[in-house]
Amino acid sequence: MGAVFQSLGRTVVAGIVLLVIIIVLVGLSTGSWIHVDHTWGTFFMRWLHILSGVMWIGLLWYFNFVQTPSMPKIPDEQKPAVTKVILPEAMFWFRYAALSTVITGLLLATMNNYIGQALSLSRPFHPIGIGMWLALIMAFNVWFIIWPNQKKIIGIVPADADQKKVAARYGLFASRFNTLASIPMLYCMAAQSHGGF
Ligand code: HEM
Repeated sequence: MGAVFQSLGRTVVAGIVLLVIIIVLVGLSTGSWIHVDHTWGTFFMRWLHILSGVMWIGLLWYFNFVQTPSMPKIPDEQKPAVTKVILPEAMFWFRYAALSTVITGLLLATMNNYIGQALSLSRPFHPIGIGMWLALIMAFNVWFIIWPNQKKIIGIVPADADQKKVAARYGLFASRFNTLASIPMLYCMAAQSHGGF
C-alpha cells in the first residue's frame, strides 16, 4: 500500500482499479452489466464532467477559503513559497480543469440533445441553461482575467510592484466573482434533473 501512496500517479490508477472492482462486484451481485450504449456513454460523460468540475471548483474554493485569507499571515520572506511554488502548480490544474469542465459539459448537453435549447434558455431546459451560462462566464474569467493577472504575480510576465498590486486586485475580484457565481451555478446545474425549480 505504501508503494501506491508514495506516488500520485499510482494513487489515481488505484482509484480507477477500485472503480472497476466495484463495477464487477455490482455486476456479479445483481446480474446486470453495463451496456456500452448511448445512455451509458452519456452517463460516462457526466462522470468525467463531475470529476473535472470538482477539480476546478475545489481549487477555486481552496484559493478563496484557504490561500488568499492566509497570505497576510505569512511573513514576506516566506511568501515566494506560495507565489512561486504552490500558485503556478495550482493554476495549471485550475485552468485545465476549467477547460475540461467546459468541454465535457458542452458534450454532455449535446449528447442530451438540448444544447441549443439550453443555451437559448428555452423551457424546460432553462435551469441547466442558466447554470451553463454562469459556468461559461466563470471559465472566461479563469482564462482571460484571472490567469493573465496571475502571470504578473508569479513572474511569468514582467511587472513592477505597482502593476503587481493592480493585477492582484483584478485577480482577487474575478476570483471572488467566480466564488459568488459558483453558488447559484451549482444549484442550476443539479436542478435540471432533480426538480430544483
Ligand atoms: C461551461 C461549463 C459547464 C457546462 C456546459 C455544463 C453542463 C452540464 C450539463 C449539460 C449537465 C447535465 C444536466 C442534466 O441534464 O441533468 C451538467 C450536470 C452537472 N454539472 Fe455541469 N456544466 C458546466 C460546469 C459545471 C461545473 C463548473 C460544475 C462544478 C462541479 C458542474 C457540475 C455538474 C454536476 C455535479 C452535474 C450533475 C447533475 C446531476 O446529475 O444531478 N458543472 N452540467
